[in-house]
Amino acid sequence: MSKMISEPESYFRTLIAERDPVLKRLEEEAQNEGIPIIGPVIGALMFVLARFAGARRILEFGTATGYSAIWMARGCRADDARIVTLEKNPAMADRARRNCDLAGVGDRVEIHTGDALTIAKDLAGPFDMIFLDIEKKDYAPALEDCRRLLRPGGLLAADNIAFADADLFNRAILADEAWQAVPLYAFMPGHSPERDGICLAVKSL
Ligand SMILES: C[S@@+](CC[C@H](N)C(=O)[O-])C[C@H]1O[C@@H](n2cnc3c(N)ncnc32)[C@H](O)[C@@H]1O
Repeated sequence: MSKMISEPESYFRTLIAERDPVLKRLEEEAQNEGIPIIGPVIGALMFVLARFAGARRILEFGTATGYSAIWMARGCRADDARIVTLEKNPAMADRARRNCDLAGVGDRVEIHTGDALTIAKDLAGPFDMIFLDIEKKDYAPALEDCRRLLRPGGLLAADNIAFADADLFNRAILADEAWQAVPLYAFMPGHSPERDGICLAVKSL
């Protein structure tokens, strides 16, 4: 049998792609202030998914400082691409606005301040991708609006699904024939926390 890498977690820490100074500063601030961000590996995954999907419209629940929005905005190739991102904390939303400007994506990131579940009710689709990253107990209640807002074949990604509060969502999306979902548990260097899960799902109905 071929040999496995003996210390995979140390090894995979050496395989994180370089980031620009804006993303690196946001990673440092997240570390210092305890802000839970997706980090460079899931950031790169969101970039790849946005690029592969040819995404033009992305909806994010949970902006924080704008770190994940910047990755997704850079993943979109279209000049008219828009990331709509929802954040309940006005101070955080202000920081995210400044950070998106500094990252050169301010013109394509639209930040709405308020409760994401409430704002989502008034949004109109279709979106190509939705990223869920708010309180985990709110994932299951958000599912119906995600289904309404995504285009057929659109992608839903939900972060932190190894949190106990995500259990209802994890079971609901697997049982719902509107979705083809895959719950992944992985080591994610730089993610908060580093051993966690992410659900990727396409809207099939
Ligand atoms: C995990 S952080 C988001 C991290 C961000 N997606 C990133 O990776 O850069 C969650 C954010 O969602 C916000 N939040 C939590 N519940 C929310 C809600 N119901 N509506 C809007 N924002 C919410 C919090 O204030 C916090 O800034």
